[in-house]
Amino acid sequence: MSKKIAVLASGSGSNLQAIIDSVREEKLEAEISLVIANKIDAYALERAKKNNIKSYFIKDEDEMIKILNQHNIDLIVLAGFLKILSEEFIQQFQGKILNIHPSLIPSFCGKGYYGLKVHQKALEYGVKVSGATVHFVTKDPDSGPIIMQKAVYIDEDETAESLQKKVLKVEHEILVESIKKVLKDGGKK
Ligand code: GRF
Repeated sequence: MSKKIAVLASGSGSNLQAIIDSVREEKLEAEISLVIANKIDAYALERAKKNNIKSYFIKDEDEMIKILNQHNIDLIVLAGFLKILSEEFIQQFQGKILNIHPSLIPSFCGKGYYGLKVHQKALEYGVKVSGATVHFVTKDPDSGPIIMQKAVYIDEDETAESLQKKVLKVEHEILVESIKKVLKDGGKK
């Protein structure tokens, strides 16, 4: 039986799209049971609808927990989910929550590092490589065990926007690969 994934997102959902495409192309053997967005205007909700995936706009964590439990989810993927989850939520799904972050953790991560800011900070610092990280979610933001990372080189004329675009491309690759790996290994306890 296919493993069941829930994707939580707050924005555009290009990472969600990468997962949808891999499932459709049978590169990822899983089913996206539902998408939850905590922002009503998240384009991720549209992507879910277009692909006949159940989608919910939910802000309340207890409600999220209830719906996730109703669907017997094997893996929760935070794909651009801009809300720090409570310890209670994380404990409920211990070892079953993945997050994607647009830098090479432990650089440019933690509280306040999200979206374009991550790339602005990397460029201000002057790093010559950046990248993306997929990790398990634990109670401290962006600090759980790393599953996969991929680096990108920073060009002379790089801007935060161009870096974001470049990193997003590798995010899509390693997010799908990480999901495959975790579903195969059975998650981390
Ligand atoms: C990605 O850069 C992700 O790493 C970060 O938020 C962004 C979401 O992009 N946490 P999208 O909504 O998947 O297009």
